[in-house]
Amino acid sequence: MSYFSRASRLNTSRSQLASAKQISKEAGVLRKHLQEREEADTRQEADAYANARRQAERIDKRDRVILKNEEERSVFEEVFDRRTLMTLYDIANKGVYSQLNGVVSTGKEARVYWGVTSEGVDVAVKIYLVASSDFKRRAQYVVGDPRFTNFRRDSRGIAELWARKEFTNLTQSYEAGVSVPKPGMHEGNVLTMQFIGENGVPAPKLTETDVTKSDYLDVVKQMKILFSKAEIVHADLSEYNIFKLDRKVYLFDFGSAVSVQHPLARDFLKRDIYNLNHFFEKRGITTLDELSLLSKFKFKKSKLSETTDE
Ligand SMILES: Nc1ncnc2c1ncn2[C@@H]1O[C@H](COP(=O)(O)OP(=O)(O)OP(=O)(O)O)[C@@H](O)[C@H]1O
Ligand SMILES: [Mg+2]
Repeated sequence: MSYFSRASRLNTSRSQLASAKQISKEAGVLRKHLQEREEADTRQEADAYANARRQAERIDKRDRVILKNEEERSVFEEVFDRRTLMTLYDIANKGVYSQLNGVVSTGKEARVYWGVTSEGVDVAVKIYLVASSDFKRRAQYVVGDPRFTNFRRDSRGIAELWARKEFTNLTQSYEAGVSVPKPGMHEGNVLTMQFIGENGVPAPKLTETDVTKSDYLDVVKQMKILFSKAEIVHADLSEYNIFKLDRKVYLFDFGSAVSVQHPLARDFLKRDIYNLNHFFEKRGITTLDELSLLSKFKFKKSKLSETTDE
């Protein structure tokens, strides 16, 4: 073998050796990198696990704060989503109630709870269910109401809309001097209000108690103030949505109530009057003529006229 061919072979093997060394170096770097990543992943997983555990403990502790009863707690976890539970805890932190003592009513779209403040004052807590907020069924009570044009149409958005709407209606009514539970506050899909009743037991509704002609006239008077001063129509008025306590009536369940400017306000009012008259007639009480009563409520295109005359 000539000198040159030996030299060229030697060069080749040198360069092979160099590239082999390079490859092994790169492999080493890669291995180290992979190992670091694996360690980081394990660390991350461990962190995530620890975080989840801490959060679960926090939630458990939190639920224990507002719900003392073990059975209620498990029902709560089943019925409400995490965000609703967070909202309920948030409201508790604001001091609106320190504890929820138990469920008062389990409706299809909302649940009402008996809350108690740290001073021992009862509060009604109405929670709209996110899972069953059926917009189509109740669309007619919001589409056309100039007060509510901006809302999300997903199920949480709708549940929040109903809570906001009921709270707005209640506040407008209360400020106008209508006999309603005093509004508390509203956050997300939850609203709170004065508890009408005692020790977590709601006052009887008209359907559950004796009624008189004076109760009838009182309800009619409240409807008139509602219309002329609060400028809303209840739209779901019946013996099931009126309390009677100490000879005084209280209208409640204002989720469906609409502005008097709503295109169906007159139809809703007519139905409210019909329901009311029908109930009192059944109880043997003479009622006012439906049409002449309806004519007392003056709908105007722009400004409404006062119709609080007795
Ligand atoms: N402010 C309150 N104080 C005491 N109890 C209340 C109050 N508001 C509601 N409740 C109780 O909760 C029940 C349901 O309330 P509400 O009618 O507002 O909810 P809802 O989900 O519309 O129920 P429903 O479909 O039965 O009409 C009432 O019948 C009453 O017993
Ligand atoms: Mg009701």
